[in-house]
Amino acid sequence: MKIGVISDIHLDINQDFDVLASLDRIANQEGCDLVLIAGDIHSNAHETIRAMAQLNQQSKVNYKYVPGNHDLWNDHIDLDDTNEIYKLFLQDENCLCERPLVLGDWVVVGDIGWYDYSFGNKEKFSFADFEKMQLDGRVWQDSIKNQWTVDNAKRTEQSLQQVEALFAEYGDKKKILVTHMIPVHEFCVDESKANWAYFNAFLGSERYGLYRGAT
Ligand SMILES: [Fe+2]
Repeated sequence: MKIGVISDIHLDINQDFDVLASLDRIANQEGCDLVLIAGDIHSNAHETIRAMAQLNQQSKVNYKYVPGNHDLWNDHIDLDDTNEIYKLFLQDENCLCERPLVLGDWVVVGDIGWYDYSFGNKEKFSFADFEKMQLDGRVWQDSIKNQWTVDNAKRTEQSLQQVEALFAEYGDKKKILVTHMIPVHEFCVDESKANWAYFNAFLGSERYGLYRGAT
């Protein structure tokens, strides 16, 4: 089985060409049986779900995804509560959240993941600085559009517990973990670029990286 991996197709932003058609063309060219999309498909959950259904209806490739932080935003949808938006994804058969995909000896476990500031530069910034989620006039948009940010550490903990529980449930399988969040510091943005010593705090958690090679 050949598995393709991509993320951040941002259909709401990338409207100059048919992103889904391009993705499916390349997936077919590459002979992918399954493509995992690791979040940020749209900034409206209904549109994310619709797009993934369309892909699966039109293609022989199997497409699965986890939402990203943008897919949870509440400024372009008829729902305000982030947990209610998240529930839409839990009901979607193409979403991997709380819906592991077994592939023989392997299992694909999906979770949005979250961030705990572990990738922010703690020599330059304090926990209180990161809690503000804004620096030099730039506001990390989750703080406006996602209620999970009232306690990012707790949300990260919940996500990790969910992953642990699913890993335990499929203890005999080899694991592929799909999240929208970065698991290792080397994937973060270069700190020499404007204010990323600060904003890397909101890209993931080193705790997801601890699973590498663990099972
Ligand atoms: Fe994102």
